[in-house]
Amino acid sequence: MLESIIKRVLVSEEEIKSIVCRLGQEITRDYADKNLVIVSVLKGSVMFTVDLAKQINTVCEMEFVRTYSYGNGTESTGKVQMLVDFDRPDFAECDFLVIEDIVDSGNTLKYLVEHLLAKGAKSVKTCTLLDKPSRRKVDFNPDYVGTVIPDEFVFGYGLDLFEKYRDIPYVAVVSPEYLESRNL
Ligand code: IMP
Ligand code: MG
Repeated sequence: MLESIIKRVLVSEEEIKSIVCRLGQEITRDYADKNLVIVSVLKGSVMFTVDLAKQINTVCEMEFVRTYSYGNGTESTGKVQMLVDFDRPDFAECDFLVIEDIVDSGNTLKYLVEHLLAKGAKSVKTCTLLDKPSRRKVDFNPDYVGTVIPDEFVFGYGLDLFEKYRDIPYVAVVSPEYLESRNL
């Protein structure tokens, strides 16, 4: 069943481990003297956030947000809405690092950076496991990137295919036959 949906494995478990280790070291170094607050974007970045947080060896706090920008298909609607937000009294003292699974059009992270800055954040940076720069629709570049990938729809390691398969431990490309069968 799963085999018929996968075109190929794009980022293996081993590659994910080494990416997470490298990013953890960079973030640990860059945030040693800062007030780090990790902001995980639900649901897609949960696996990545949990693994990355374990590799960040400096004191940090964790917050969670949930946004909505996708219709039923694989194309962004362009408009971002907050479904889950957080509040705290000390925005001006916090160095936020927003953790995403993938940057596609750039709408979600651009919106979240502006949203946190509008609330008075001391600083806001972004970290993504996967980056698809060829799909960018707005002027946005993440600060920390796991790996750049081609313009193909991927799933696994937090990323969903119609809300399923978030639990597979690697990132895979969806077979075109499967997308066609779903009229995408
Ligand atoms: P953006 O706002 O267009 O940059 O898209 C960000 C969100 O779109 C991500 O957090 C994902 O939830 C979703 N997304 C974009 N590309 C993919 C993909 O290839 N597979 C699964 N989800 C994706
Ligand atoms: Mg996401």
